[in-house]
Amino acid sequence: MSTAAAPSASPAVWFLTGASSGFGRCLAESVLASGDRLIATAREPSHLASLAATYPASCEIMALDVTDAAQVSSVVASAARVWGRLDMVINNAGCGLLGAIEECSDEQIRRNFETNFFGPLNVTKAALPVLRAQRSGHFIFLSAAAAISNYAGFGIYGGAKWALEGLAESLRAEVALLGLKVTLVQPGPFRTDFIRRSLEHTTTPIADYEKTAGKFAQFLAGVDGRQPGDPARAAQIIVDVIKSGRAPFRLPLGAYAVEKLKRRSATTAREAAEWEATAVQADFPVA
Ligand SMILES: NC(=O)c1ccc[n+]([C@@H]2O[C@H](COP(=O)([O-])OP(=O)(O)OC[C@H]3O[C@@H](n4cnc5c(N)ncnc54)[C@H](OP(=O)(O)O)[C@@H]3O)[C@@H](O)[C@H]2O)c1
Repeated sequence: MSTAAAPSASPAVWFLTGASSGFGRCLAESVLASGDRLIATAREPSHLASLAATYPASCEIMALDVTDAAQVSSVVASAARVWGRLDMVINNAGCGLLGAIEECSDEQIRRNFETNFFGPLNVTKAALPVLRAQRSGHFIFLSAAAAISNYAGFGIYGGAKWALEGLAESLRAEVALLGLKVTLVQPGPFRTDFIRRSLEHTTTPIADYEKTAGKFAQFLAGVDGRQPGDPARAAQIIVDVIKSGRAPFRLPLGAYAVEKLKRRSATTAREAAEWEATAVQADFPVA
């Protein structure tokens, strides 16, 4: 079944973080090619100049580092004034941290959470008053397969994405009655700049983690450039699904993520059934 939407009366307004490369760049191109309007943001806005040149009437560029809460507030407020509304807010900007938990410095850990958790939180809090006042809009969060089930060596990155998923679940429950929607996108491995330039590594490896976190680091290095996922196809699917008005809460992308989600659900259900008899004994006896 096609997920493409029927043409709507006026173009929707999208707000996007991290539009310089990978999913962000592809999302920007898909949104603009669909005829909608876009406020594309990046830490270095000159990287978005060609987008603005190709779509001068429908693409606005703004500088934004999602970890700068004050900048986020003023940029989201300016973005809402451009076309008088914000319909879709995509929290895409993100970065990885590779290393066993003990191998990552406090500074690296905090930096990762600043980008992957507090960044989207900043953007969401800044945009919520606009979307609430409209009684319509859609928040989209780029999560990760690491938040379906996690790997050795991705404890901090995956931890930040799990935190983001917890936030998104709660947000969904809070805003559904106000007419707002929330979608989590869970990509498997995709061919973007992520492993190459958006993945920080531990600088203090510990030999005891060579067979776990170290092995995962080797796997990632080997898969770079050969990931099965195509970010352009993914972006088109995201835009079509969101525009269809029938978006799910969780959207795994790529066969790897779909399989992982199925396996995780089966394992969780099996474990709950296995331990049910013990677990229920924790309640007060029914009088
Ligand atoms: N590729 C995958 O396999 C994969 C899998 C699962 C999830 N994801 C998620 O997909 C999202 C996009 O990553 P990608 O794969 O497209 O990698 P990418 O090509 O490296 O893009 C990462 C983007 O995030 C931006 N960014 C990083 N820190 C930022 C900050 N503080 N403020 C604003 N922008 C910031 C980068 O901007 P600069 O150009 O300024 O660095 C870049 O535009 C991330 O949330 C990532 O966790 C990716």
